[in-house]
Amino acid sequence: MSSPILTVKTDQERQDLVIIPPVSGLALSGKIQIPGDKSISHRSLMLGAIAEGETTIEGLLLGEDPQSTAACFRQMGADISELSEQTVRVRGLGIGNLQEPKDVLNAGNSGTTLRLMLGLLASQPGRFFSVTGDKSLRSRPMSRVVTPLEQMGAKIWGRQGGQLAPLAICGGHLKPTHYHSPVASAQVKSCILLAGLSIDGKTTVTEPALSRDHSERMLRAFGADIQVDPSCHQVTVTGPVTLKGQTVVVPGDISSAAFWLVAAAIIPGSDLRVENVGVNPTRTGILEALQRMEADLTLENQREVAGEPVADIRVRSSQLKACEIGGALIPRLIDEVPILAVAATMAQGTTVIRDAEELRVKESDRLLAMARELGKLGAKVSERPDGLEITGGVPLQGAELDSYDDHRVAMSLAIAALLAQGPSHLYNAQAASISYPDFISTLKTALNQ
Ligand code: S3P
Repeated sequence: MSSPILTVKTDQERQDLVIIPPVSGLALSGKIQIPGDKSISHRSLMLGAIAEGETTIEGLLLGEDPQSTAACFRQMGADISELSEQTVRVRGLGIGNLQEPKDVLNAGNSGTTLRLMLGLLASQPGRFFSVTGDKSLRSRPMSRVVTPLEQMGAKIWGRQGGQLAPLAICGGHLKPTHYHSPVASAQVKSCILLAGLSIDGKTTVTEPALSRDHSERMLRAFGADIQVDPSCHQVTVTGPVTLKGQTVVVPGDISSAAFWLVAAAIIPGSDLRVENVGVNPTRTGILEALQRMEADLTLENQREVAGEPVADIRVRSSQLKACEIGGALIPRLIDEVPILAVAATMAQGTTVIRDAEELRVKESDRLLAMARELGKLGAKVSERPDGLEITGGVPLQGAELDSYDDHRVAMSLAIAALLAQGPSHLYNAQAASISYPDFISTLKTALNQ
Protein backbone atom coordinates (compact mmCIF):
# COMPACT_ATOMS: atom_id res chain seq x y z
CA MET A 1 0.00 0.00 0.00
CA SER A 2 1.39 3.41 -0.88
CA SER A 3 1.57 6.25 1.65
CA PRO A 4 -1.61 8.33 1.94
CA ILE A 5 -2.34 11.63 0.22
CA LEU A 6 -1.88 14.30 2.87
CA THR A 7 -3.40 17.76 3.04
CA VAL A 8 -1.23 20.16 5.01
CA LYS A 9 -1.82 23.80 5.92
CA THR A 10 1.36 25.84 5.74
CA ASP A 11 1.47 29.26 7.33
CA GLN A 12 3.84 30.63 4.71
CA GLU A 13 1.85 33.03 2.55
CA ARG A 14 -1.29 31.13 3.63
CA GLN A 15 -0.62 28.49 1.01
CA ASP A 16 -2.12 25.07 1.28
CA LEU A 17 -0.24 22.00 0.29
CA VAL A 18 -1.21 18.50 -0.72
CA ILE A 19 1.43 15.78 -0.64
CA ILE A 20 0.78 13.23 -3.37
CA PRO A 21 2.63 9.94 -3.24
CA PRO A 22 3.16 7.73 -6.29
CA VAL A 23 0.18 5.51 -6.98
CA SER A 24 2.53 2.49 -6.83
CA GLY A 25 0.49 -0.57 -7.62
CA LEU A 26 -2.94 0.88 -6.78
CA ALA A 27 -5.52 1.17 -9.55
CA LEU A 28 -8.78 3.06 -9.98
CA SER A 29 -11.81 0.81 -9.92
CA GLY A 30 -15.52 0.84 -9.19
CA LYS A 31 -17.83 3.80 -9.77
CA ILE A 32 -17.38 7.49 -9.31
CA GLN A 33 -19.86 10.38 -9.22
CA ILE A 34 -18.75 13.80 -10.33
CA PRO A 35 -20.10 17.26 -9.43
CA GLY A 36 -22.65 19.12 -11.56
CA ASP A 37 -21.70 20.84 -14.79
CA LYS A 38 -20.29 24.31 -14.11
CA SER A 39 -21.53 25.92 -17.33
CA ILE A 40 -25.07 24.57 -16.89
CA SER A 41 -25.07 25.52 -13.18
CA HIS A 42 -24.27 29.17 -13.95
CA ARG A 43 -26.88 29.35 -16.68
CA SER A 44 -29.61 27.75 -14.56
CA LEU A 45 -29.08 30.34 -11.80
CA MET A 46 -29.00 33.24 -14.27
CA LEU A 47 -31.99 32.19 -16.36
CA GLY A 48 -33.88 31.36 -13.17
CA ALA A 49 -33.17 34.89 -11.92
CA ILE A 50 -34.50 36.59 -15.06
CA ALA A 51 -37.41 34.22 -15.75
CA GLU A 52 -40.95 34.74 -14.51
CA GLY A 53 -42.04 32.29 -11.82
CA GLU A 54 -40.04 29.60 -10.08
CA THR A 55 -37.10 27.60 -11.38
CA THR A 56 -35.94 24.50 -9.56
CA ILE A 57 -32.42 23.23 -10.08
CA GLU A 58 -31.29 19.72 -9.21
CA GLY A 59 -27.65 18.66 -9.18
CA LEU A 60 -26.21 22.19 -9.04
CA LEU A 61 -22.42 22.43 -8.72
CA LEU A 62 -21.57 23.69 -5.23
CA GLY A 63 -18.18 25.07 -6.26
CA GLU A 64 -17.06 28.63 -5.64
CA ASP A 65 -17.93 29.82 -9.18
CA PRO A 66 -21.70 29.16 -9.00
CA GLN A 67 -21.63 30.66 -5.47
CA SER A 68 -20.33 33.85 -7.11
CA THR A 69 -23.16 33.84 -9.64
CA ALA A 70 -25.78 33.28 -6.94
CA ALA A 71 -24.32 36.07 -4.79
CA CYS A 72 -24.39 38.58 -7.69
CA PHE A 73 -27.99 37.83 -8.64
CA ARG A 74 -29.14 37.89 -5.01
CA GLN A 75 -27.62 41.39 -4.79
CA MET A 76 -29.86 42.34 -7.72
CA GLY A 77 -33.02 41.05 -6.01
CA ALA A 78 -33.35 37.44 -7.18
CA ASP A 79 -34.66 35.10 -4.50
CA ILE A 80 -32.27 32.13 -4.62
CA SER A 81 -32.52 29.52 -1.88
CA GLU A 82 -29.42 28.17 -0.19
CA LEU A 83 -27.31 26.31 -2.77
CA SER A 84 -27.53 22.54 -2.49
CA GLU A 85 -27.09 19.56 -4.77
CA GLN A 86 -30.65 18.51 -4.00
CA THR A 87 -33.05 21.31 -4.92
CA VAL A 88 -32.31 24.99 -5.36
CA ARG A 89 -35.32 27.27 -5.88
CA VAL A 90 -34.99 30.53 -7.76
CA ARG A 91 -37.86 33.01 -7.83
CA GLY A 92 -37.16 35.11 -10.89
CA LEU A 93 -37.63 38.82 -11.40
CA GLY A 94 -38.43 38.84 -15.13
CA ILE A 95 -36.09 40.18 -17.84
CA GLY A 96 -35.32 43.84 -17.41
CA ASN A 97 -36.17 43.81 -13.69
CA LEU A 98 -32.75 43.26 -12.15
CA GLN A 99 -32.43 45.78 -9.33
CA GLU A 100 -29.59 48.26 -9.08
CA PRO A 101 -27.25 46.68 -6.52
CA LYS A 102 -26.09 48.76 -3.54
CA ASP A 103 -22.52 47.57 -3.92
CA VAL A 104 -20.02 46.24 -6.45
CA LEU A 105 -20.92 42.85 -7.96
CA ASN A 106 -18.02 40.46 -7.45
CA ALA A 107 -17.69 37.53 -9.86
CA GLY A 108 -14.71 36.09 -7.95
CA ASN A 109 -12.69 33.78 -10.20
CA SER A 110 -15.52 33.20 -12.66
CA GLY A 111 -15.24 34.45 -16.24
CA THR A 112 -18.61 32.89 -17.06
CA THR A 113 -20.32 34.86 -14.29
CA LEU A 114 -18.80 38.16 -15.33
CA ARG A 115 -19.08 37.86 -19.11
CA LEU A 116 -22.61 36.43 -19.24
CA MET A 117 -23.86 38.83 -16.59
CA LEU A 118 -22.52 41.82 -18.56
CA GLY A 119 -25.00 41.07 -21.36
CA LEU A 120 -27.86 41.26 -18.89
CA LEU A 121 -26.60 44.35 -17.05
CA ALA A 122 -26.02 46.35 -20.24
CA SER A 123 -29.68 45.86 -21.16
CA GLN A 124 -31.28 47.07 -17.86
CA PRO A 125 -32.38 50.63 -18.73
CA GLY A 126 -31.70 53.35 -16.19
CA ARG A 127 -29.61 51.30 -13.78
CA PHE A 128 -25.95 51.51 -12.88
CA PHE A 129 -23.75 48.52 -12.06
CA SER A 130 -20.12 48.05 -11.15
CA VAL A 131 -18.51 44.64 -11.49
CA THR A 132 -15.18 43.15 -10.52
CA GLY A 133 -13.48 39.85 -9.81
CA ASP A 134 -10.41 38.34 -8.19
CA LYS A 135 -6.84 39.03 -9.30
CA SER A 136 -7.02 36.43 -12.09
CA LEU A 137 -10.35 37.65 -13.46
CA ARG A 138 -9.21 41.30 -13.34
CA SER A 139 -6.40 40.37 -15.72
CA ARG A 140 -8.60 38.53 -18.26
CA PRO A 141 -9.77 40.22 -21.47
CA MET A 142 -13.20 41.78 -21.26
CA SER A 143 -13.03 43.60 -24.61
CA ARG A 144 -14.30 40.44 -26.29
CA VAL A 145 -17.72 41.14 -24.71
CA VAL A 146 -17.46 44.92 -24.22
CA THR A 147 -16.84 45.52 -27.97
CA PRO A 148 -20.02 43.78 -29.22
CA LEU A 149 -22.10 45.24 -26.39
CA GLU A 150 -20.86 48.73 -27.29
CA GLN A 151 -21.84 48.05 -30.92
CA MET A 152 -25.32 47.36 -29.57
CA GLY A 153 -25.29 50.73 -27.80
CA ALA A 154 -24.11 49.71 -24.31
CA LYS A 155 -22.32 52.19 -22.05
CA ILE A 156 -19.39 50.46 -20.35
CA TRP A 157 -16.23 51.87 -18.77
CA GLY A 158 -13.23 50.07 -17.37
CA ARG A 159 -9.47 49.96 -17.02
CA GLN A 160 -7.45 50.17 -20.25
CA GLY A 161 -10.36 51.56 -22.23
CA GLY A 162 -12.85 49.00 -20.98
CA GLN A 163 -10.65 45.98 -21.58
CA LEU A 164 -10.25 44.98 -17.95
CA ALA A 165 -12.46 44.75 -14.85
CA PRO A 166 -13.44 46.52 -12.66
CA LEU A 167 -16.07 47.74 -15.11
CA ALA A 168 -18.91 50.23 -14.74
CA ILE A 169 -22.09 49.72 -16.77
CA CYS A 170 -24.96 52.11 -17.37
CA GLY A 171 -27.85 49.93 -18.56
CA GLY A 172 -29.85 51.07 -21.58
CA HIS A 173 -32.06 50.13 -24.53
CA LEU A 174 -29.82 48.19 -26.90
CA LYS A 175 -30.25 47.68 -30.64
CA PRO A 176 -30.10 44.42 -32.63
CA THR A 177 -26.79 43.32 -34.06
CA HIS A 178 -25.16 40.60 -36.12
CA TYR A 179 -21.81 40.04 -34.44
CA HIS A 180 -19.05 37.98 -36.06
CA SER A 181 -16.97 36.87 -33.10
CA PRO A 182 -13.25 36.47 -33.80
CA VAL A 183 -13.07 33.72 -31.13
CA ALA A 184 -15.10 30.54 -30.68
CA SER A 185 -16.27 31.39 -27.18
CA ALA A 186 -19.49 30.35 -25.49
CA GLN A 187 -19.04 33.19 -23.03
CA VAL A 188 -19.03 35.77 -25.83
CA LYS A 189 -21.92 34.09 -27.66
CA SER A 190 -23.99 33.78 -24.48
CA CYS A 191 -23.33 37.36 -23.39
CA ILE A 192 -24.71 38.68 -26.69
CA LEU A 193 -27.70 36.32 -26.70
CA LEU A 194 -28.60 37.35 -23.13
CA ALA A 195 -28.39 41.02 -24.13
CA GLY A 196 -30.60 40.20 -27.14
CA LEU A 197 -33.42 38.84 -24.97
CA SER A 198 -34.81 42.32 -24.29
CA ILE A 199 -34.10 43.79 -27.74
CA ASP A 200 -36.92 44.23 -30.24
CA GLY A 201 -35.70 42.25 -33.27
CA LYS A 202 -33.04 39.70 -34.16
CA THR A 203 -29.67 39.48 -32.42
CA THR A 204 -27.27 37.12 -34.20
CA VAL A 205 -23.84 35.76 -33.31
CA THR A 206 -21.61 33.93 -35.77
CA GLU A 207 -18.51 32.21 -34.41
CA PRO A 208 -15.50 30.75 -36.25
CA ALA A 209 -16.13 27.27 -34.79
CA LEU A 210 -18.85 25.80 -32.65
CA SER A 211 -18.52 26.47 -28.92
CA ARG A 212 -20.62 24.84 -26.18
CA ASP A 213 -24.34 25.33 -26.78
CA HIS A 214 -25.80 25.10 -23.27
CA SER A 215 -27.20 28.65 -23.46
CA GLU A 216 -29.06 27.93 -26.69
CA ARG A 217 -30.55 24.73 -25.25
CA MET A 218 -31.56 26.26 -21.95
CA LEU A 219 -32.90 29.52 -23.41
CA ARG A 220 -35.12 27.48 -25.72
CA ALA A 221 -36.35 25.36 -22.81
CA PHE A 222 -37.22 28.57 -20.91
CA GLY A 223 -39.29 29.76 -23.90
CA ALA A 224 -36.94 31.94 -26.00
CA ASP A 225 -37.12 31.96 -29.81
CA ILE A 226 -33.65 30.63 -30.73
CA GLN A 227 -32.69 29.78 -34.30
CA VAL A 228 -29.47 27.90 -35.00
CA ASP A 229 -27.72 27.55 -38.36
CA PRO A 230 -25.13 24.82 -37.71
CA SER A 231 -23.64 25.15 -41.21
CA CYS A 232 -22.06 28.49 -40.27
CA HIS A 233 -22.04 28.31 -36.42
CA GLN A 234 -24.70 31.00 -36.21
CA VAL A 235 -27.33 31.59 -33.50
CA THR A 236 -30.17 34.12 -33.50
CA VAL A 237 -32.47 35.18 -30.68
CA THR A 238 -35.59 37.12 -31.59
CA GLY A 239 -36.72 39.46 -28.85
CA PRO A 240 -38.25 40.69 -26.77
CA VAL A 241 -38.58 37.42 -24.91
CA THR A 242 -40.45 36.34 -21.80
CA LEU A 243 -38.77 33.44 -20.04
CA LYS A 244 -40.78 31.06 -17.85
CA GLY A 245 -39.23 29.30 -14.86
CA GLN A 246 -38.38 25.63 -15.47
CA THR A 247 -36.99 22.55 -13.78
CA VAL A 248 -33.31 22.12 -14.65
CA VAL A 249 -31.48 18.87 -13.97
CA VAL A 250 -27.73 19.50 -14.10
CA PRO A 251 -25.69 16.55 -15.43
CA GLY A 252 -22.20 15.75 -14.16
CA ASP A 253 -19.46 17.93 -15.62
CA ILE A 254 -17.45 16.23 -18.38
CA SER A 255 -14.62 18.67 -17.58
CA SER A 256 -14.48 17.21 -14.04
CA ALA A 257 -14.96 13.66 -15.35
CA ALA A 258 -11.92 14.21 -17.58
CA PHE A 259 -9.52 13.96 -14.61
CA TRP A 260 -10.79 10.47 -13.81
CA LEU A 261 -11.01 9.40 -17.44
CA VAL A 262 -7.36 10.24 -17.95
CA ALA A 263 -6.29 8.89 -14.55
CA ALA A 264 -7.95 5.52 -15.21
CA ALA A 265 -6.61 5.43 -18.77
CA ILE A 266 -3.00 5.84 -17.60
CA ILE A 267 -2.91 4.11 -14.19
CA PRO A 268 -2.21 0.45 -14.99
CA GLY A 269 -4.90 -2.03 -14.01
CA SER A 270 -7.68 0.58 -13.71
CA ASP A 271 -11.30 -0.12 -14.65
CA LEU A 272 -13.52 2.78 -13.64
CA ARG A 273 -17.08 3.83 -14.39
CA VAL A 274 -17.73 7.59 -14.22
CA GLU A 275 -21.47 8.01 -13.81
CA ASN A 276 -23.94 10.62 -15.03
CA VAL A 277 -21.60 12.56 -17.30
CA GLY A 278 -22.99 15.27 -19.60
CA VAL A 279 -22.03 14.26 -23.14
CA ASN A 280 -23.30 17.25 -25.10
CA PRO A 281 -21.47 16.96 -28.46
CA THR A 282 -20.09 20.49 -28.08
CA ARG A 283 -18.19 19.22 -25.02
CA THR A 284 -17.05 15.71 -25.98
CA GLY A 285 -13.80 16.68 -27.69
CA ILE A 286 -11.92 15.07 -24.80
CA LEU A 287 -13.52 11.69 -25.55
CA GLU A 288 -12.55 12.00 -29.21
CA ALA A 289 -8.99 12.98 -28.34
CA LEU A 290 -8.63 10.08 -25.89
CA GLN A 291 -10.08 7.67 -28.45
CA ARG A 292 -7.53 8.94 -30.99
CA MET A 293 -4.93 8.09 -28.35
CA GLU A 294 -6.39 4.57 -28.24
CA ALA A 295 -7.85 4.92 -24.77
CA ASP A 296 -10.34 2.18 -23.92
CA LEU A 297 -13.58 4.16 -23.37
CA THR A 298 -17.18 2.94 -23.58
CA LEU A 299 -20.30 5.06 -23.27
CA GLU A 300 -23.04 3.18 -21.42
CA ASN A 301 -26.63 3.93 -20.47
CA GLN A 302 -26.89 6.88 -22.88
CA ARG A 303 -29.97 9.00 -22.19
CA GLU A 304 -31.32 12.55 -22.36
CA VAL A 305 -31.95 14.46 -19.13
CA ALA A 306 -33.73 17.83 -19.27
CA GLY A 307 -32.51 18.58 -22.80
CA GLU A 308 -28.89 17.48 -22.34
CA PRO A 309 -27.39 14.10 -23.38
CA VAL A 310 -25.96 12.08 -20.49
CA ALA A 311 -24.05 8.77 -20.23
CA ASP A 312 -21.94 6.67 -17.89
CA ILE A 313 -18.40 6.29 -19.17
CA ARG A 314 -16.33 3.19 -18.53
CA VAL A 315 -12.60 3.49 -18.93
CA ARG A 316 -9.98 0.77 -18.71
CA SER A 317 -6.26 1.44 -18.69
CA SER A 318 -4.33 0.90 -21.90
CA GLN A 319 -1.10 2.00 -23.55
CA LEU A 320 -1.89 5.43 -25.02
CA LYS A 321 -0.48 6.63 -28.33
CA ALA A 322 0.41 10.23 -29.16
CA CYS A 323 -1.99 12.28 -31.29
CA GLU A 324 -2.25 15.69 -32.94
CA ILE A 325 -5.14 17.95 -32.08
CA GLY A 326 -6.17 21.39 -33.25
CA GLY A 327 -8.78 23.29 -35.27
CA ALA A 328 -12.47 22.90 -34.49
CA LEU A 329 -11.76 20.21 -31.89
CA ILE A 330 -10.14 22.77 -29.56
CA PRO A 331 -13.31 24.66 -28.49
CA ARG A 332 -14.90 21.25 -27.79
CA LEU A 333 -12.17 20.35 -25.25
CA ILE A 334 -10.90 23.80 -24.29
CA ASP A 335 -10.96 23.16 -20.52
CA GLU A 336 -9.49 19.66 -20.87
CA VAL A 337 -6.18 20.61 -22.49
CA PRO A 338 -4.28 20.57 -19.14
CA ILE A 339 -5.36 17.01 -18.31
CA LEU A 340 -4.86 15.94 -21.92
CA ALA A 341 -1.28 17.17 -21.57
CA VAL A 342 -0.93 14.78 -18.61
CA ALA A 343 -2.26 11.91 -20.75
CA ALA A 344 0.32 12.83 -23.40
CA THR A 345 3.19 12.39 -20.91
CA MET A 346 2.23 8.70 -20.71
CA ALA A 347 1.59 8.17 -24.43
CA GLN A 348 4.02 6.65 -26.92
CA GLY A 349 5.28 9.31 -29.31
CA THR A 350 4.94 13.08 -29.54
CA THR A 351 1.56 14.70 -28.99
CA VAL A 352 1.05 18.11 -30.59
CA ILE A 353 -1.68 20.46 -29.38
CA ARG A 354 -2.15 23.50 -31.64
CA ASP A 355 -4.69 26.33 -32.14
CA ALA A 356 -5.11 26.52 -28.36
CA GLU A 357 -3.87 30.10 -27.72
CA GLU A 358 -7.13 30.76 -25.82
CA LEU A 359 -5.56 28.82 -22.97
CA ARG A 360 -3.30 31.76 -22.30
CA VAL A 361 -6.26 33.86 -21.10
CA LYS A 362 -7.99 31.32 -18.86
CA GLU A 363 -7.84 31.37 -15.03
CA SER A 364 -4.06 31.23 -15.58
CA ASP A 365 -1.90 30.98 -18.69
CA ARG A 366 -2.51 27.24 -18.87
CA LEU A 367 0.04 26.57 -21.62
CA LEU A 368 2.78 28.17 -19.58
CA ALA A 369 1.62 26.60 -16.30
CA MET A 370 1.39 23.06 -17.70
CA ALA A 371 4.67 23.29 -19.63
CA ARG A 372 6.56 24.52 -16.54
CA GLU A 373 4.99 22.22 -13.98
CA LEU A 374 5.07 19.04 -16.11
CA GLY A 375 8.66 19.99 -16.92
CA LYS A 376 9.45 20.04 -13.17
CA LEU A 377 8.16 16.45 -13.01
CA GLY A 378 10.68 15.60 -15.72
CA ALA A 379 8.25 15.37 -18.65
CA LYS A 380 9.50 16.32 -22.09
CA VAL A 381 7.24 19.29 -22.86
CA SER A 382 7.77 22.35 -25.00
CA GLU A 383 5.53 25.34 -25.16
CA ARG A 384 4.40 26.58 -28.58
CA PRO A 385 2.76 30.00 -29.03
CA ASP A 386 -0.56 28.24 -29.61
CA GLY A 387 -0.15 24.96 -27.77
CA LEU A 388 2.13 22.27 -26.40
CA GLU A 389 4.35 19.51 -27.73
CA ILE A 390 4.79 16.57 -25.39
CA THR A 391 6.89 13.47 -25.92
CA GLY A 392 5.55 10.70 -23.74
CA GLY A 393 7.11 7.78 -22.01
CA VAL A 394 9.76 9.72 -20.06
CA PRO A 395 9.57 8.57 -16.38
CA LEU A 396 8.26 11.34 -14.07
CA GLN A 397 9.91 12.23 -10.75
CA GLY A 398 8.18 13.79 -7.72
CA ALA A 399 8.57 17.58 -7.60
CA GLU A 400 7.44 20.81 -5.91
CA LEU A 401 4.45 21.91 -7.97
CA ASP A 402 2.26 24.99 -8.04
CA SER A 403 -1.34 25.24 -9.21
CA TYR A 404 -1.03 28.88 -10.30
CA ASP A 405 -4.29 29.21 -8.32
CA ASP A 406 -6.01 27.56 -11.26
CA HIS A 407 -8.45 24.75 -10.48
CA ARG A 408 -7.84 22.76 -13.64
CA VAL A 409 -4.05 23.05 -13.36
CA ALA A 410 -4.27 21.90 -9.71
CA MET A 411 -6.27 18.78 -10.56
CA SER A 412 -4.23 17.93 -13.65
CA LEU A 413 -0.99 18.12 -11.67
CA ALA A 414 -2.44 15.97 -8.88
CA ILE A 415 -3.13 13.22 -11.43
CA ALA A 416 0.32 13.61 -13.03
CA ALA A 417 1.96 13.38 -9.59
CA LEU A 418 0.37 9.95 -9.01
CA LEU A 419 2.42 8.63 -11.91
CA ALA A 420 5.73 10.04 -10.66
CA GLN A 421 8.44 8.14 -8.81
CA GLY A 422 8.55 9.74 -5.36
CA PRO A 423 6.10 12.10 -3.68
CA SER A 424 5.16 15.53 -5.04
CA HIS A 425 4.22 18.64 -3.08
CA LEU A 426 1.35 20.47 -4.75
CA TYR A 427 0.93 24.04 -3.48
CA ASN A 428 -2.37 25.90 -3.74
CA ALA A 429 -4.25 22.71 -4.47
CA GLN A 430 -7.28 24.28 -2.79
CA ALA A 431 -7.95 26.08 -6.10
CA ALA A 432 -9.72 22.85 -7.12
CA SER A 433 -12.76 23.96 -5.12
CA ILE A 434 -13.66 26.46 -7.85
CA SER A 435 -15.19 23.62 -9.84
CA TYR A 436 -14.62 20.46 -7.77
CA PRO A 437 -14.69 20.98 -3.98
CA ASP A 438 -14.35 17.24 -3.19
CA PHE A 439 -11.59 16.47 -5.66
CA ILE A 440 -8.82 15.60 -3.19
CA SER A 441 -11.12 13.59 -0.91
CA THR A 442 -12.53 11.73 -3.94
CA LEU A 443 -8.96 10.96 -5.02
CA LYS A 444 -8.22 9.49 -1.59
CA THR A 445 -11.41 7.37 -1.71
CA ALA A 446 -10.81 6.26 -5.29
CA LEU A 447 -7.40 4.95 -4.22
CA ASN A 448 -8.98 3.36 -1.11
CA GLN A 449 -6.77 5.36 1.22
C1 S3P B 1 -17.57 28.49 -20.53
C2 S3P B 1 -16.96 28.69 -21.73
C3 S3P B 1 -15.52 28.49 -21.96
C4 S3P B 1 -14.87 27.67 -20.86
C5 S3P B 1 -15.32 28.11 -19.50
C6 S3P B 1 -16.83 27.99 -19.37
C7 S3P B 1 -19.01 28.75 -20.41
O1 S3P B 1 -14.88 29.74 -22.00
O2 S3P B 1 -13.48 27.73 -20.97
O3 S3P B 1 -14.72 27.30 -18.51
O4 S3P B 1 -19.62 28.29 -19.43
O5 S3P B 1 -19.56 29.41 -21.30
P1 S3P B 1 -14.78 30.57 -23.38
O6 S3P B 1 -16.15 30.88 -23.80
O7 S3P B 1 -14.03 31.81 -23.02
O8 S3P B 1 -14.04 29.68 -24.31
